Amino acid sequence: KNPPPANIVIFGGKGDLAWRKLIPAFYNLYIGGFLPKNFAIYGVHYEKQDEKWYESYMLEGINTFSRSGKAKPKEWKAFAQNLYYFEGDFTADDTFRRLGETLDANDKKWRNRAVRLFYYSVSPKFIDDISIGLSKYDLAANVSLDRIVVEKPFGSDLQSAKDLNKLLLAKFKEKQIYRIDHYLGKETVQNLMAFRFANIFFESLWNHNYIEHVQITVAENIGVGSRGNYYETAGALRDMIQNHLFQLLCVTAMEPPVTTDAEEIRNKKVDVLKAVRPFNKDNIQSNAIRGQYGEGKVNGKTQQAYRKEKNVNPKSDVETYAALKLYIDNWRWQGVPFYLRTGKSLQKASSVIAIQFKQVPLCVFKPNAIPDRRPNQLIISIQPEMETTLVFQAKEPGVEMKIKPVEMDFTYHDNYDTAVPEAYETLLLDVLEGDAALFMRADQVEQAWKVVMPVIDNWAATTEKFPNYNAGSWGPKAADELIKADGFDWILLPEAKQPAIK
Ligand code: BG6
Repeated sequence: KNPPPANIVIFGGKGDLAWRKLIPAFYNLYIGGFLPKNFAIYGVHYEKQDEKWYESYMLEGINTFSRSGKAKPKEWKAFAQNLYYFEGDFTADDTFRRLGETLDANDKKWRNRAVRLFYYSVSPKFIDDISIGLSKYDLAANVSLDRIVVEKPFGSDLQSAKDLNKLLLAKFKEKQIYRIDHYLGKETVQNLMAFRFANIFFESLWNHNYIEHVQITVAENIGVGSRGNYYETAGALRDMIQNHLFQLLCVTAMEPPVTTDAEEIRNKKVDVLKAVRPFNKDNIQSNAIRGQYGEGKVNGKTQQAYRKEKNVNPKSDVETYAALKLYIDNWRWQGVPFYLRTGKSLQKASSVIAIQFKQVPLCVFKPNAIPDRRPNQLIISIQPEMETTLVFQAKEPGVEMKIKPVEMDFTYHDNYDTAVPEAYETLLLDVLEGDAALFMRADQVEQAWKVVMPVIDNWAATTEKFPNYNAGSWGPKAADELIKADGFDWILLPEAKQPAIK
């Protein structure tokens, strides 16, 4: 491959995301040989900063956060030659005029019109100014080469997401806009596509005839830490469910695409969200559960209550946990409940998609021959284990018929020597290559907001007795009751002990 040269501009170039994720990701792409020979990265920020200081700060970011560990001096030096600090106020015309001159000069030097990647790693309030600046100076006028990357949060409700789409689409074409959801770049999430659509065995069972229910858990054991300011405006439903969990839902439930073209994949995903049965006042109470952590111990360490966290209102009603029960009203999923849950300060960090199949039509074995009648389960651990486990019944060796659940495992650890790239590496490379399949289209974002809006409105209008779960637990009791009411349990991780199913 000989990728075209690239001019990469990060608005918010000194920010946390650039420091922890973006620059380390570009660095890893560079040392992996995925960046073009000619490229330049500009970190735009309004403060006056010394170029050398910027380089050493970014090096510290790589050394601290990069999956590949500390940068090697020679490689870093070569990379840093293409990394620049660019002082500029996002609201000033002059910033964009100078930027234009710089990018044009590179094109000339490289004798090629480079791909331009503009990364909005900024607070949403600057999106307008940056878009106006870019468009006023024609910096992103080449529809096939110039790309805008927009970070979440993409709006805070349906209306604001629509406004944001309108604003961006007034300046750029949809095909230029890459709305990022880093969950889609995770190796294990991409593997779910391979698992479903490069194999026949499960796809033929992947429907309401064989699947009893589906669970999607994204559990975090960290609290909100230093992000209180932002989190107070978000909560678990906006921060995680509307985007990350819905993306997992879409990949799990979508119809097989005909090709891997971005439009085809995104059409199939948006169809899932369109088919989600709407929440209404009769089902919200029972099918949408919220929680907020109180003080507790996580891994033996005391975690303070959410209401005591920095920049959090001591009477905050913001949820740090959310669980939803959904139905997808299409042929494939008729009658199959989907349970989604996510929360902070839970017992363990673990993201799992669990498919529970139906029981066999008739159990021909005597009850004492099969004491645990667990139905087949397929448990896909997104992180941290990165493991796919199939639970099925097997006869224990011996002269008697004794049947017990066993596990068949696939792990990255045992199967591959290659390093697993960070989600941002995969996604940034896709942007440079102009592949939008793993990015959200305007209609998908809006449809996701449409699904959660009744819950958002209901939760804003009512209160819950918070805190209602201890840090270090598995969340509020009501979330256990939600799933128990249907005769199921939250499916624990493969190595954890699960109660026997009679
Ligand atoms: C972010 C959320 O989008 O995703 C955070 O804003 C959350 O609250 C994070 O912690 C989780 O990402 P990951 O990759 O650590 O699972």
